[in-house]
Amino acid sequence: MKMRKGIILAGGSGTRLYPITMAVSKQLLPVFDKPMIYYPLSVLMLSGIREIAVITTPEDQAQFRRLLSDGAQWGLKFTYIVQPKPEGLAQAYLLAEEFLDGAPSAMVLGDNLFFGHGLPALLQSADTSNAGGTVFGYRVADPERYGVVDFAVDGTVRRIVEKPDVAPSPYAVTGLYFLDGSAPDRARAVTPSARGELEIVSVLDSYLEDGDLRVEQMGRGYAWLDTGTHSSLLDAGNFVRTLSERQGQQIGSPDEIAHEQGWIDDIALLQRAGMFGKNAYGGYLNALIEQA
Ligand code: TTP
Repeated sequence: MKMRKGIILAGGSGTRLYPITMAVSKQLLPVFDKPMIYYPLSVLMLSGIREIAVITTPEDQAQFRRLLSDGAQWGLKFTYIVQPKPEGLAQAYLLAEEFLDGAPSAMVLGDNLFFGHGLPALLQSADTSNAGGTVFGYRVADPERYGVVDFAVDGTVRRIVEKPDVAPSPYAVTGLYFLDGSAPDRARAVTPSARGELEIVSVLDSYLEDGDLRVEQMGRGYAWLDTGTHSSLLDAGNFVRTLSERQGQQIGSPDEIAHEQGWIDDIALLQRAGMFGKNAYGGYLNALIEQA
């Protein structure tokens, strides 16, 4: 069995954040003290994934390379892939087909932030299911904005509907998809929707038809935030600030997670801490070693 690989989808047009995103990628914007992409990257790392494709627009790739380089600073290996046009989430599986080379994958949207007690265990359990797919259902007040789970009376999942006018349930599908090696073939069979995109729900429906999709509940003890509008971006920043300052612990630090996973040693972590001078993030990383 091949090791699961990761995909961070960090292209898109970010029009809801205009004018901010007219000149900079949404996924590079700050969520309090770190660039947005650190948060979804952390989710893949907590899942134990070390080989990751970063999909960006052609214009933005150079900046992502500058921020993330080849990944060795975290014991990771990044492959950069361009999405020429934002033609849908499912297109990622076609663009990443060669990178995946038949391996199962975990794809996370570059503007999604997850937090909660037990998240690593939840992710690792999704990682161990090799066949089929696993996605997460999360209760939201405004499900119409997302892919929504339509449950049958017996609780099984009937379908997932993209941005329905009337939501069949309050459960949105989060932007984190654990799919097996058949995802690129399934994405190839998808035809563009009315809005001209290859929809991820069409790929999920294909798994559902084969009885191969698990929809796990991500309960109320978790936070799932997306950062696609001005208000939700600020809310996410405030959330990270409130929790991390209260607890004195970082949320979404790839440096801390890489060290915790044993992918980098103390010296490598101290080198990273040194890059951040005297700011609180650098101080935090230093303290991880000094207080150990
Ligand atoms: P969205 O928030 O749906 O779209 P967007 O980022 O283009 O923003 P807007 O609606 O304001 O124009 O995208 C969700 C995530 O997926 C986001 O991180 C961008 C990414 N994405 C791609 O990388 N390629 C795509 O083709 C699409 C549709 C989204």
